[in-house]
Amino acid sequence: MHSRILSAAVAGVVCCLSASAPAQHLAGYNYDEAKIPPYAMLDPLRLNDGRAVTTAAEWWQQRRPEIVRLFEENVYGRTPAKARIPLRARVVEIDRHALQGRAIRKQIDIYFTAKGESGPKMRLLVYLPLHPRAGRGYGRHRSAVILGLNFGGNQTVLDDPGIEPTLVWSKAKGSGTLEHVLPEDATRGTQAQEWQVEKVIGRGYGLATAYYGDIEPDFKDASQYSVRQLFLQPGQTAVAGDAWGAIGAWAWGLSRAVDYLSTDRDVDAKRIVATGHSRLGKTADWAAAQDERIAAVLSTESGKAGQSLSRREMGETVQHLEHSFPYWFCGNYARWAGHDREIPADGNLLLSLIAPRPLYVASAAGDEWSDPRGEFLSAVSASRVYALLGKQGLGTTTMPAVNQSAMEGDVAYHVRSGVHDVTAFDWDRYLDFLDLHLRESEGLRTRVKTQ
Ligand code: GCU
Repeated sequence: MHSRILSAAVAGVVCCLSASAPAQHLAGYNYDEAKIPPYAMLDPLRLNDGRAVTTAAEWWQQRRPEIVRLFEENVYGRTPAKARIPLRARVVEIDRHALQGRAIRKQIDIYFTAKGESGPKMRLLVYLPLHPRAGRGYGRHRSAVILGLNFGGNQTVLDDPGIEPTLVWSKAKGSGTLEHVLPEDATRGTQAQEWQVEKVIGRGYGLATAYYGDIEPDFKDASQYSVRQLFLQPGQTAVAGDAWGAIGAWAWGLSRAVDYLSTDRDVDAKRIVATGHSRLGKTADWAAAQDERIAAVLSTESGKAGQSLSRREMGETVQHLEHSFPYWFCGNYARWAGHDREIPADGNLLLSLIAPRPLYVASAAGDEWSDPRGEFLSAVSASRVYALLGKQGLGTTTMPAVNQSAMEGDVAYHVRSGVHDVTAFDWDRYLDFLDLHLRESEGLRTRVKTQ
């Protein structure tokens, strides 16, 4: 999304409106490679006590849990055990002839409490491709599904009148009060470029999305509307210590969508892929780190506190994140403001938690705020864990030229031209990568009907 220079107070509303933005350089931040102070990258294959990790067993039993804890304690906070809830869902709409007969569209309410309909819930929108059957038209099929949260409501991802608009959070003009309102009809399809639903369906993949505000509004001081309220211990305040923040809550929401998708007969539960852009890329990374049902990750410009390196003091800093978006993180994250080079949980460790699953890390050349080279170096470093687990990671330590992909191994990377955004270029590469790694188990991979 394009809101990086906007305050958190308006981010949730404005992010989905602009179509392009210039490269952003906020004054007072470093964008000069030569001015990066010396720093040491964290080692994904070294235990906190300094011992090297040399076997897969040591990774799974010791180092991986240690890294998860580092992120819980220092960045995103801990997802409460109480938040493990049973699936409660209702399919509220199905259209088996969506997208001119090429897809099934489903809209599903996922309830967060036993109150069901009358309690808090998330609306999941799902498109699933219909596959050609020899001489018998188009039929059902268990599809791989790409799952991600959206910024502006489900109606923004495609101009499809069948999508029921999601109530969105916005600040009332004048009073500044947070309101939960029906979006204007003009918002339909405003994020279609970023989601490329038709392209995804045309390549034989499903797409599932929900509005992140259904889980927590993306505003300072809005935590009373967050699912986090549902799982507080007596006397606990949401932001203290290692209590989870909004990114933790959004990641939890992705897992609730996985709960549902795993039960849907039109979905292949073994091929659920998480995706997200920017803050929602951080969310997808953290969701996959915690939830191993997620089979692959496509992470677009998740930047600092995501796939990039805070220790490399380039672009955004912890201080900026902590100042503008403190509610995204746990309270302890503030400790690292002004101490980026000492942060004990950085992007390369986050990506290593996704191993050995296929991972695509995407940057944009104009997105220096996220530090594309830092994103690349994280992918290189995490590749060592892939190698330990018998996979081929990125397979190169040389950053590919702009608009070239490194896609030989289980970790892929590109830096495309342009600004902070998700584009058709990103999706083309993502779908090529999934074709390489998530082939259908039955070997029935077919192209689906195109217009
Ligand atoms: C801000 C923030 C980034 C974030 C981005 C986004 O720019 O500083 O860390 O990734 O918003 O979510 O668009």
